[in-house]
Amino acid sequence: MGAVSAVLALSAAACALAVAALALARYVRWRLFWHRALSPFPGPDLALPVIGTLLHILGPMDTIFERGLRLLHGGDGDGSTFKFWLGERPWLHLTRPEDLEGLLNSGKQTHKPEVVYGPVSGFFGRGLITLNGEAWRRHRRVLTPAFHFAVLERYSGIFTRRAALFADKLAEAEAGGHSFDFMPHIGAFVTDTVMETAFGLQGGDERDPRDREDFIKATDTAFKIIADRVMKPWLMVDAMFRWSPLGAKQAEADRVINLYAQRVIRLKQKQIAGKTAGRGVLRGSSGSSGQGVLSDDEILNEVRTLIAVQQTSASTLSFAVVCLALNADVQRRARAEVLAVDAEPGLAPLDRLNRLKYLERVLKETLRMYPITAIFSRTLGEDLHLPAASTKQGLGVTVFAYQTHRDPRHWPDPERFDPDRFLPERSAGRHPYAYIPFSAGPRNCIGQRYAMLQMKAVLAALLRAAELTPGEGCARQDALPLNMNTFLYIRGGFNVRLRGLSS
Ligand code: HEM
Repeated sequence: MGAVSAVLALSAAACALAVAALALARYVRWRLFWHRALSPFPGPDLALPVIGTLLHILGPMDTIFERGLRLLHGGDGDGSTFKFWLGERPWLHLTRPEDLEGLLNSGKQTHKPEVVYGPVSGFFGRGLITLNGEAWRRHRRVLTPAFHFAVLERYSGIFTRRAALFADKLAEAEAGGHSFDFMPHIGAFVTDTVMETAFGLQGGDERDPRDREDFIKATDTAFKIIADRVMKPWLMVDAMFRWSPLGAKQAEADRVINLYAQRVIRLKQKQIAGKTAGRGVLRGSSGSSGQGVLSDDEILNEVRTLIAVQQTSASTLSFAVVCLALNADVQRRARAEVLAVDAEPGLAPLDRLNRLKYLERVLKETLRMYPITAIFSRTLGEDLHLPAASTKQGLGVTVFAYQTHRDPRHWPDPERFDPDRFLPERSAGRHPYAYIPFSAGPRNCIGQRYAMLQMKAVLAALLRAAELTPGEGCARQDALPLNMNTFLYIRGGFNVRLRGLSS
């Protein structure tokens, strides 16, 4: 009997060993496959198990952007293509417009990697930004009409009215000429504006402003957590993240964001029941999940997405304000244009905004130098053919718009703030993928026209109300201390000074 047990135990051990050896062999083969597939590309050759190539970039999060740029430019290539391993996952970093065209333009390359967008869904919800496959296609179809040209025409009046109130209040609050951070001021504006435009809800009266402040703080926390998490691959394991201090912070942020989104939906449902609803995204899209409608849960997720994504306009506006403060000649020219359009009688709000061509170039140049969604990513749905070599289906690809927008072949003297780069005669012949602040192709930003009109309205109102000069730590365009969490930002704040122009 004893001998039989010993034989059984030995067999079980041998089986376990064989399974482990097989798993190890598969793992080694998989690793070798990707190492070979990435070998034609510049970047570190050594990737350690679990941490990948993160050793090259370890350090405090508030200087991660500088360290990342140093790593890209300190290697064996020019930094435009770069291989790396995020934990156990191989990635290729692409920036050249010629390489991006095949990727972004293809209907087969729309899949967003769960390892990046899964954690992001903690605050964006499972909406358009993070969905994949058929669900993404259905949501995109349902939401597209909410951003149709005719709808934007109606939104323009709301943008203009709210922007004037915002600028006058800001000019009054910050009239002392002291240095202040613009970013915290604009958060409430973009949140209230999306409430009124996309959801047909008047911001302000019906909600407790503390809810909105808590919501804005919670989204800010969540954006920081995601970057922190990506740099700590062990926290990509959900169970480990949930039990970590960062996980607890995320859960709290998640709770606040969800509460806010649910309140929006309740208000909207009340409006619909009372038949006072405006024509926002929630109208006509509700029901049980199907071809042309979204279920209640899907709507909740889209509400979260649309509210959270407003941070992009808030950040871009903050960069634009700093750029206007730093470039007095640009600011004068933009203000002159605004006042000239103001003097034209009888124009509708949308026509006024459309006439602000120079201001539009100011915003485009701001987004060139500071594309706040500087990095976005895909999982290759099929092999991608690049000049250096082909890459294989399943590879993670990061697109780094910040670097694309500084490619000197398409953007001479790239560190100079020059809105006239976007004059039609200077744009002619430029590669269409040299400028991708809103991404491009089938997964481009659905809200880009909305964002441009809204941002133009804010800048026009500010230019009327105040003169801007640089604030503390923002005295030189080429020395702005940039960093990145989910979005690009200025470490130390988007600091400017105001002098009211009302008199
Ligand atoms: C300056 C402002 C904005 C910038 C720079 C920006 C940029 C981007 C970028 C780069 C993407 C692609 C992200 C990725 O592939 O992961 C994107 C997607 C998206 N954006 Fe924006 N965005 C802005 C404003 C807005 C606004 C105001 C809205 C809504 C009102 C919006 C809604 C969306 C949505 C829903 C997607 C996902 C589209 C899809 O995958 O089908 N964005 N945006």
